[in-house]
Amino acid sequence: MVREILIVFAALFCEAGEARTETAQKAVHLGNLIFTDDVLFTVSARSALQCASQCLSVKGCLTFTYTQPSSQSTSCRGHTSVMTSDSTNQTAPGSSFYSFACDSSNLQTEFVLYQNARIRHTNLYVVNRPTLDECQAACITEPQCRSVDYNPTTLHCNVQDVTPLDEPDKWQLGGHDYDYYQRACA
Ligand SMILES: *[C@@H]1O[C@H](CO)[C@@H](O)[C@H](O)[C@H]1NC(C)=O
Repeated sequence: MVREILIVFAALFCEAGEARTETAQKAVHLGNLIFTDDVLFTVSARSALQCASQCLSVKGCLTFTYTQPSSQSTSCRGHTSVMTSDSTNQTAPGSSFYSFACDSSNLQTEFVLYQNARIRHTNLYVVNRPTLDECQAACITEPQCRSVDYNPTTLHCNVQDVTPLDEPDKWQLGGHDYDYYQRACA
């Protein structure tokens, strides 16, 4: 199966005054459909970007479909899971499916920094007292690695296979010495 994915836009995720940039990717092979699995909300939206912002503002929203307003369907539908070719669906012309979940094949070697942020208790493993470069290098060699929490004082390095979109309740801003680095997604 050809899985054509396009980068469409970045949207802001705001929590406790901090902003995160996330990229949603359009899965062309899931076009002209809406899905009934794991629906978190259905609202109207004026654009795919507005629908993306809505998804990022609702805890647990990982994917969404945006349907052109000319269609009968509600235009913005958020989901807690990634849809596949087995997902329960209905035909809805003008719909596009977008995902904030990054495919491992799209993960980059660059990181985006979020200061005084971390994800609690979701480590793949801990690296002992590395430099920041060594901590990030450990992540890059791990195909599942999405992010690291790094404490520049204690040199703690937590290698993680999740982002705050996967673990919204474990995302912690402030009150600790960690910085959060998320692998960029092409
Ligand atoms: C849509 O649903 C049909 C049957 O209901 C299924 O055969 C098909 O694989 C589904 N397509 C996607 C992209 O989920």
